[in-house]
Amino acid sequence: MSLILDPAAQDLLFREARTANTFTDEPVTDDQMEAIYDLVKYGPTSMNQQPLRIVLVRSAEARERLVGHLAEGNRKKTAQAPLVAILAADNEFHEELPSQFPHFPQAKDLFAERAVRERSARLNALIQVGYFIIGVRAAGLAAGPMTGFDADGIDKDFFGDGEHSVLAVINIGRPGENAWFPRSPRLTYEQVVRTV
Ligand SMILES: Cc1cc2nc3c(=O)[nH]c(=O)nc-3n(C[C@H](O)[C@H](O)[C@H](O)COP(=O)(O)O)c2cc1C
Repeated sequence: MSLILDPAAQDLLFREARTANTFTDEPVTDDQMEAIYDLVKYGPTSMNQQPLRIVLVRSAEARERLVGHLAEGNRKKTAQAPLVAILAADNEFHEELPSQFPHFPQAKDLFAERAVRERSARLNALIQVGYFIIGVRAAGLAAGPMTGFDADGIDKDFFGDGEHSVLAVINIGRPGENAWFPRSPRLTYEQVVRTV
């Protein structure tokens, strides 16, 4: 009653959307991925940092390398998914800041220290990972996010510049047979929210 988003859209983005563990072989196109990014990019980040970087893993060779870095339970579904995306934080995001934040030209100086940059990149890129999952759902696709992997291995193998930190690997496609694990309960409003 209090929401203005169409109930069907609420279902598509939240209530009916599930984490897929199997996929059909229907391809996910670059056009779909571009449309998803063109929505997701509007999600807010601190000082408009936008530290998220995305690698779309399409070749069989790259897929095999990626699967080798995953926890055993994540391998089969990732080998089978029509598309897999590696989502990472760019720890050198500050290089782009002046152009993204033109009314605050000193913005770059705030991130002179690597540790400060890494903290901020991680926080903001993780928020963008959430936007990305909802964006995938907005395209009528299912996402299968995973963090069960050897992060150092992925960083070295897919970035190799010491400037990126993988945050999540996300399988993308239409759900296949027996795609869902049993639905786990969500905490209630009362369990999570208190008013002071
Ligand atoms: C950040 C993140 C990391 C996850 N890592 C894994 C993983 O490594 N392997 C896995 O099978 N599922 C993983 N999941 C899937 C979650 O268990 C699943 O999204 C959650 O239980 C909700 O399931 P539902 O969408 O079917 O309700 C991950 C989900 C998220 C958001």
